[in-house]
Amino acid sequence: MTQAFSAFSAFSAFSASSAASACPATIDLLARRRSVAPLAMQGPGPDAQETERLLMLAARTPDHGKLAPWRFIVFEGEARARAGEIFARRFLEKTPGASAEQLDVERKRFQHAPLVVGVVSTAAPHAKIPEWEQVLSAGAVCMNLTLAANAMGFVSAWLTQWISYDADVLAALGVKPDEKVAGFVHIGRAQSRPEDRPRPALAEVVTRF
Ligand SMILES: Cc1cc2nc3c(=O)[nH]c(=O)nc-3n(C[C@H](O)[C@H](O)[C@H](O)COP(=O)(O)O)c2cc1C
Repeated sequence: MTQAFSAFSAFSAFSASSAASACPATIDLLARRRSVAPLAMQGPGPDAQETERLLMLAARTPDHGKLAPWRFIVFEGEARARAGEIFARRFLEKTPGASAEQLDVERKRFQHAPLVVGVVSTAAPHAKIPEWEQVLSAGAVCMNLTLAANAMGFVSAWLTQWISYDADVLAALGVKPDEKVAGFVHIGRAQSRPEDRPRPALAEVVTRF
């Protein structure tokens, strides 16, 4: 990457244009949102009503063929500790010499954020709809969930980590062998948000036909 621009400068440039006025709060959110590491998160998380709203907004996602080729697994309250026990047990199986600290990291993996939503891709061969497009829709669900959470005043982190690729962990979480985890979206609150990171220079990712 030879050149990068910050979200802030992109926002400033865009807001200077009168064309940006239709929904400025949305533009602002898109220009400023940053992931926050779960370790920096705290409660309170979304309440039951907010969680339902978040999931409804996430599910309002483009989906070729209206297949809804994805589903959600919600981890909140003590379920986060139960998931952590699964991660720690499996980690120890794979790493017999694991230290107490490493196992503690696994136990706490879902306990930093008050809410973790697993987005599971259920994409499968279909007569008309390519599987790839079903997978893309699951990614879009993760992004919608991310944006909805931030619009509601929370912070978020869209992560996969080793737990998304371990067959034993997935089975214990109720993910079927023909399903895949598109992401675990951690949602909570944070005192502050990180500075923006370098973004791709448009010159490197845009061509005009
Ligand atoms: C599908 C997907 C999986 C990710 N998995 C991980 C992960 O396993 N570990 C990690 O540290 N970050 C993971 N990330 C997060 C990114 O590394 C990084 O935090 C994020 O792209 C920051 O984006 P932002 O600056 O736009 O908020 C993942 C992101 C995506 C989209």
